[in-house]
Amino acid sequence: MVEKVQMLKEEAMQALQAASNLPELDDWRVKYLGRKGGAVTQLLRSIPELPAEERPAFGQAANELKGFLQERYEARHAELSRPTVEMTEAIDVTLPGRPVNLGRLHLTIQTLREMYAIFGQMGFQVEEWPEVETDLLNFELLNMPPHHPARDMWDTFYVNPKVVLRTHTSPGQIRSMRKHCSDPIRIILPGKCYRYEAVTARSEFMFYQVEGLAVGRRITLADLKGTMVDFARQMFGADREVRFRCSYFPFTEPSVEVDMDCIICGGEGCRVCKHTGWVEICGAGMVHPQVLSNGGYDPDVYSGFAFGMGPERVAMLKHDIDDIRYFYSNDLRFLKQFG
Ligand code: DAH
Repeated sequence: MVEKVQMLKEEAMQALQAASNLPELDDWRVKYLGRKGGAVTQLLRSIPELPAEERPAFGQAANELKGFLQERYEARHAELSRPTVEMTEAIDVTLPGRPVNLGRLHLTIQTLREMYAIFGQMGFQVEEWPEVETDLLNFELLNMPPHHPARDMWDTFYVNPKVVLRTHTSPGQIRSMRKHCSDPIRIILPGKCYRYEAVTARSEFMFYQVEGLAVGRRITLADLKGTMVDFARQMFGADREVRFRCSYFPFTEPSVEVDMDCIICGGEGCRVCKHTGWVEICGAGMVHPQVLSNGGYDPDVYSGFAFGMGPERVAMLKHDIDDIRYFYSNDLRFLKQFG
């Protein structure tokens, strides 16, 4: 009798393999496990008719078979319920996919991040201040009272007579000094600036600046020079030379213009350096005593240097770009070349 169970098991397993979709599987379930006429059910029902000594072994075998088939059924059901990809005319899975266009960082942002890394190594932290600024901070507290002729250096967008779009990041010097309340400072202040100017290959009405400011005891022009040399060498190559030229800014004394030997011709003279061998990289100087005291620092105790750099100019030198207008006219042919 126990062989009968074994035979039924083999038959049922074969039939289960043959069931290749859910309706066929359901037919199989009715045939073998169905409550009324299922083969296993019938087997169990026949137990009472057997001789008493055969009942235990047979009953056990039949019950085991029932449990076993139930398990196999469930496994097969799960297998057949899984979604399958069918090759139809509508979906050709061999077609190449559509390319996903990846965005990238704008060249200015890439350059800014390089600058943060270089100045970061030198201990400068990044701070940001508003683009809409008061006339007081943009000019007056930087030693340019109303009608001061030096204001002509910056053509200004006025929001109202007392509020401007900042023409440079230098007002951030005052804001940062007031924030740090006489603690030593080593910061860079990146951000957008605006000028009411005709747009040309060399000037945009909106551009970025990175202001640098270091204030502490016994800071000298030599510290400024060391910082500029280190920056130039890390950004543009280890054998760069830097020179200072006398200049004038109302908020620094002395004021300088920082030049670097031309990276295109190495100082020989070319179109980029206008045959001088030198290219300008920023304006800088020692913070004017009045500006220190406007920021809350006692000029008899503290000194400091400051500089203002154009990241677009840095990028133009580095990548030999001859027109600043490419940066913000959103031509992907230009922007895609970087990053
Ligand atoms: N703010 C100046 C400009 O926009 C650049 C500048 C010059 C910044 C000298 C400075 C500085 O901090 O010391 O032209």
